[in-house]
Amino acid sequence: MYCICSNRSFDDILSQQRADPLPLDEMITSYTSCTSGCGSCIKALLAEAEISGLDPIAVSKLSVQEA
Ligand code: FES
Repeated sequence: MYCICSNRSFDDILSQQRADPLPLDEMITSYTSCTSGCGSCIKALLAEAEISGLDPIAVSKLSVQEA
């Protein structure tokens, strides 16, 4: 998948997260332009991060905040 607003693929974003891990909310603000973009891909990006085993606790917290 691809984040149009960040002009980056999810693979690129998650590779950066693996190389230099941050809490997922900081990953979104630091490694993407989602917060200044449309935000439509954030849920899918967080789901892919969870599937990839990246910080599932932070994913759960962010999912609660989105509800
Ligand atoms: S497509 Fe990712 S924030 Fe807009």
